[in-house]
Amino acid sequence: MIPDYSYYQKVLQKEEFPLAYVDLNLLDQNIKDILARAQEKKIRLASKSIRCRHILEYLLDYNQQFQGIMCFTAPEAVWLARAGFDDLLIAYPSYQKAHLEAVGQAVKKGKKIYLMVDRIEHLQRLQELGKNAKCTFLVCLDLDMSSRYPSIHFGVHRSSVNDLPSTETFVRYLKQCSHVSLKGVMGYEAQIAGLGDNMKGKWLMNRIIRFLKKRSIKEISQRRAEVVEYLYSQEYDLHFVNGGGTGSLETTREEAVVSEITVGSGFYSPCLFDEYSNFKHQPAAGFAIEIVRKPSNHIYTCLGGGYVASGMADINKVPQPYLPKGCKLDQNEMAGEVQTPIHYSGNTPLAIGDIILMRHSKAGELCERFNHLHLVRNGQITNKVFTYRGEGKCFL
Ligand SMILES: Cc1ncc(COP(=O)(O)O)c(C=O)c1O
Repeated sequence: MIPDYSYYQKVLQKEEFPLAYVDLNLLDQNIKDILARAQEKKIRLASKSIRCRHILEYLLDYNQQFQGIMCFTAPEAVWLARAGFDDLLIAYPSYQKAHLEAVGQAVKKGKKIYLMVDRIEHLQRLQELGKNAKCTFLVCLDLDMSSRYPSIHFGVHRSSVNDLPSTETFVRYLKQCSHVSLKGVMGYEAQIAGLGDNMKGKWLMNRIIRFLKKRSIKEISQRRAEVVEYLYSQEYDLHFVNGGGTGSLETTREEAVVSEITVGSGFYSPCLFDEYSNFKHQPAAGFAIEIVRKPSNHIYTCLGGGYVASGMADINKVPQPYLPKGCKLDQNEMAGEVQTPIHYSGNTPLAIGDIILMRHSKAGELCERFNHLHLVRNGQITNKVFTYRGEGKCFL
């Protein structure tokens, strides 16, 4: 059962605000549901959507189906490797010389850190640095998974390798690079995994998105299979074929060539992940802000709260009041840099010093605003753990 306001109020009342929390009971529920959704596929953890070492460890220890981490920068991967993690796939290209040299050192020591590549320039850089450092970089090919329809680019703009011919061209160059070894393929179908199709009040848009998703799923699975088969025919010993995200478990798992699916956001399940028709996870993470003034009868103003998420600037990137029920943001002020006025029409009496619980629009970005996550289980705070930020790490 999802706890109510009085539960969190009781648990958190002695703490300093604002604070961020993870409800471990709800996290466990999400973990179980995600494992069930993935069926037999391995799950790689998207660290950008978690940003807390303790939670990464908790997930990896929870079940062996969780295997490896999808990092977001090379310094992060090197830092995690030093902390004892392994099987680290850096999902976005790295080009900084010092960062790549650090990866090379870690790989030489036997760590499995995979760099993302999709351009000849990436390969040239790695070949040159690998030669100097006498190491062989492990790389993963990023296969573009967007779908192009007349006047619609359905997906994101990432890789320039987007079909078999462009893969063949890339591989021809790759074969000349003695210090680069292809060990994986990743294709992230953002238009399926990261795009809600059950948005409130958007009936027509939801129908269009569902139609496009259906079309795209078929097409991208063929593309991925074709490219992976080609790579096997070229005798590449792939450690993994990665695909998907929280929103696409049901479809990515159907692809026989995919060996693992990446999941991050589904664990905390922020607001944007309420908007999918194929699953519903529990609101496991949130933050509490304190009421510090009451400018009029039904308005309670809290300190802090303006933790707006990245991506297209839109109302759905703004954090939302969660508990108590009956809270709404002010249409003009929204969640403010230092203050957030809340319009309240609920039944629970509120006073200065009480808290309002909020949910972030995205998952890991919450952790960039707080040094700690308060871990809550069975009505108690069981631990207070560092976020990446709390450990002094700001990777992006
Ligand atoms: C390369 C890649 N894979 C997978 C994901 C899915 O992550 P999540 O489960 O947090 O949506 C993302 C998210 O942006 C991504 O960039």
